[in-house]
Amino acid sequence: MYEFVTGPLAWIAFLIFFIGVIVRAVMYIRGLRWNLDRVAYREFPMYGFKGAVRSIVAWLIPFGTRAWRQNAGFTVLVFIFHIGLLVTPIFLLAHNLILKERWGFSFWTLPEPVTDLMTVLMLVAALLIFLRRYALPEVRILTTGYDLLVLAIAVAPFITGLLAYHHVGDYQFWLILHILSGEVWLIAIPFTKLSHFVLFFMSRAQLGMDFGIKRGGMKGRGMAW
Ligand code: HEM
Ligand code: HEM
Repeated sequence: MYEFVTGPLAWIAFLIFFIGVIVRAVMYIRGLRWNLDRVAYREFPMYGFKGAVRSIVAWLIPFGTRAWRQNAGFTVLVFIFHIGLLVTPIFLLAHNLILKERWGFSFWTLPEPVTDLMTVLMLVAALLIFLRRYALPEVRILTTGYDLLVLAIAVAPFITGLLAYHHVGDYQFWLILHILSGEVWLIAIPFTKLSHFVLFFMSRAQLGMDFGIKRGGMKGRGMAW
């Protein structure tokens, strides 16, 4: 079983993830109606590029935008949640040992107590994000089963990874479940709203470009929107 889930199944999951993420990005670009802004976009590409980078960077910094500042507590939770979500699996010792064994290369690794703590903090943040969905009426009315499913898919590898790492109960059971939930995590990204993993960057770049060109590029031509 271990051979199968870390072999062919892992291959399939990673392929679907990488190809799926690229396809989502291409679909986003093809779905844009470039012709509406063709002239402005062609004339001011530098303003567009700067605007795109500025918008992405502002949103990746805690409190970097007005929306982040307006909800300080939620912002802290979302950042702890995402740092755990993205940094932990990449720099985890156990993952890098597998990578080295199978592929002959590995990334730099964080000490195990650090990744363990990041896993716990990420799970605590996820729990508070979940509770917030029910505590605030304005968020509760927008919450559907789909939101909960997506949140469950996002946290499942962390719960099972934590239980396996600490050898709680049957190690083999949690390890296999961990790998399977990690594969579901990867496959779900292109097909669910977890695709914001790539679409976040696409939409921020698009809006930043638009602002950069229309507020910067057109200035001085009596055309500042
Ligand atoms: C798909 C293939 C994957 C394999 C083969 C794999 C394998 C492993 C192994 C062997 C461990 C260590 C268990 C131990 O210490 O004995 C582990 C821990 C962990 N994995 Fe994975 N994993 C996979 C995917 C993922 C994914 C996609 C994520 C997150 C998105 C993830 C997050 C974690 C975390 C957070 C821990 C450690 C928890 C802790 O130390 O407290 N894994 N994984
Ligand atoms: C660098 C990549 C990513 C960025 C920039 C990003 C950004 C964001 C942002 C801005 C939000 C919305 C917060 C709000 O409601 O205002 C969000 C929510 C969320 N993200 Fe990500 N995300 C990234 C990657 C991921 C990944 C890889 C996953 C899981 C596979 C994920 C899972 C979630 C979940 C579950 C929520 C919803 C939390 C809730 O229930 O309210 N994100 N993300």
